[in-house]
Amino acid sequence: MDEEILQLLREHSSDFLSGEEISRHLKVSRTAVWKRMRRLKTLGYEIEASTRSGYRLIRSPDLLTPAEVRLGLKTKRIGKRVHHFRTLDSTNSKAYQLALNGAEEGEVVIAESQEKGKGRLGRQWFSPPFLNIYISVILRPKIPPHQASLITLMAAVATADAIRNFSGLLPVIKWPNDILLRDRKVAGLLNEIHSEVDRIHFVILGIGVNVNMDEKMLSKEIRTVATSLKIETGQTVSRKDFLQSLLLELERWYAMFSEEGGAVILEAWRDRAHIKGKQVKVTSFGGILIGKAIDVDLDGALLLETEDGTRKRVVAGDVEYKTKT
Ligand code: BTN
Repeated sequence: MDEEILQLLREHSSDFLSGEEISRHLKVSRTAVWKRMRRLKTLGYEIEASTRSGYRLIRSPDLLTPAEVRLGLKTKRIGKRVHHFRTLDSTNSKAYQLALNGAEEGEVVIAESQEKGKGRLGRQWFSPPFLNIYISVILRPKIPPHQASLITLMAAVATADAIRNFSGLLPVIKWPNDILLRDRKVAGLLNEIHSEVDRIHFVILGIGVNVNMDEKMLSKEIRTVATSLKIETGQTVSRKDFLQSLLLELERWYAMFSEEGGAVILEAWRDRAHIKGKQVKVTSFGGILIGKAIDVDLDGALLLETEDGTRKRVVAGDVEYKTKT
């Protein structure tokens, strides 16, 4: 009902809408309308109320509630159902549970903050409230499990493109799927998969984007390696607008992958990663490797040529660029 009331108020934002009109439209009592208005105010909506004229929406908070996210969202599938939480341990864990219980492709879990946001390689993802975007998207691709990495590459491309479209800046993807602006991480992806030997049940695309964090909010250790859209553009960004554009890019690239296959995704990923020929140092569970990046293969693994000319294939790890190209 929040969504319907907000839509009505927005359609009449230049004048008041009487309680009676609203109750007639939504087929609920005037007391129910009044209670809803009170609830919306506690959520941060500024609503002018006059006993004679009714209600008028003055300002909406930058919240990522279903009512906010779905209004004006141009996707067909992704984000059409939104599960919103003030806080969660991790949106990925919640989405995983929902998917096990039958949630459909395209459902999105959003949290305003995370207590134990999951990062790559067992790290924690810094998730303070109301500043950034923490989402998990449920996908049910009809592909064999060995192609799951392509979904991760696809999501990295979509996130990079949403950032580019939104900020006008040119993000770079760092293997495997960090999104960088000025060599600092602005977004990270952690995807989880549930499958059997020859079939994927679902993929959870976990995406964290640093949106409105200021430099002073970042700890000393993070400050040199992380950034946010606000730090880079010098402007506060509407999280809702950015999220809508991110969901649209995800839908666009996912459709491209489903219709045209992995080669298009790999090409787009290469275009945005500029990794070929770079001298890199990779820290992985197997130790440290130094060499020249050759490419990324269809499984998303990094192909390296070490100093003695041997070729190595790295499936997980952290990359540092030794030289810039
Ligand atoms: C990384 O370490 O680069 C990956 C970070 C991924 C963070 C996002 S925030 C939303 C989703 N839920 C999680 O618990 N993690 C991902």
